[in-house]
Amino acid sequence: MQFIKVNPQHEKFIAVIELNRPKELNALNRELMLEIRDTLRELDEDDNVRVIILTGGQKVFAAGADIKQMASATAIDMLNIDQFSTWDGIKKTKKPIIAAVSGFALGGGCELAMTCDMIVASDTAKFGQPEIKIGTMPGAGGTQRLTRAMGKVQAMELVLTGKFISAEEALAGGLINKIVPVELLLDETLKLARLIAAQSPVAVKLAKEAVNNAFNSTLDEGLIFERKNFYLTFASADQKEGMAAFVEKRVPDFKGK
Ligand code: CAA
Repeated sequence: MQFIKVNPQHEKFIAVIELNRPKELNALNRELMLEIRDTLRELDEDDNVRVIILTGGQKVFAAGADIKQMASATAIDMLNIDQFSTWDGIKKTKKPIIAAVSGFALGGGCELAMTCDMIVASDTAKFGQPEIKIGTMPGAGGTQRLTRAMGKVQAMELVLTGKFISAEEALAGGLINKIVPVELLLDETLKLARLIAAQSPVAVKLAKEAVNNAFNSTLDEGLIFERKNFYLTFASADQKEGMAAFVEKRVPDFKGK
């Protein structure tokens, strides 16, 4: 891997992907995004991985799509390359992904964090969709995910002015899960990851799918989808183990089967 570092076993059941293009502030060129997509596909198939953490550097999570790479592209180049289709691979990942964000998460960097399932931010984090300042607009989910996370008026302000918000503002707006001291970012993210890694991987996968489905369905359709996934967990040994462990007053040992 040229632009990311991957540790599939950072600790038991938890993999860490680190964006590693520091000189360019982790600008998300096409190659880097392909590496993320392919890595996520591998980790999704690896039974030893239950939760994935995606992080950047301390100064910057990611400063957005690579402006230099796309500056002179024509609309037809953009259409033919269709670089944001790579991002669909991130969305397809069945295991939970937690973004651990320190410093700037701008443009595609903010969109990358929002494509993950949860966001833990350091107190130095800054979020924004500054594409408007370079004559364009968000193209990898910003107008949709920011609006769903923070509501229309907040998203509109960020997208139309390009201004940055602090971690506190992001927390108040519902964009992130929590703020932690910068030096504890990975430790605190690991704590959250461990809580999820201790659960049934089958139930986690089905639950993640049901929560995400809330954005694509009516309430009634979503409730039916949820109910079917709930019933499906009863096909797993993990459900039997989880309920037996509760009755026997012991800690369950989930196998992902
Ligand atoms: N693409 C390519 N290179 C970038 C980059 C980007 N998004 N962001 C920073 N860099 C490069 C700079 O050009 C600079 O390179 P050189 O040393 O070769 O000059 C290097 O990284 C360091 O950057 P700065 O000197 O600008 O660092 P700074 O600390 O003064 O500022 C910053 C940091 C505020 C993040 C600033 O770099 C910045 O505003 N970056 C661009 C942010 C942006 O507009 N992102 C949106 C991109 S478009 C997009 O993401 C579309 C989409 O929807 C997916």
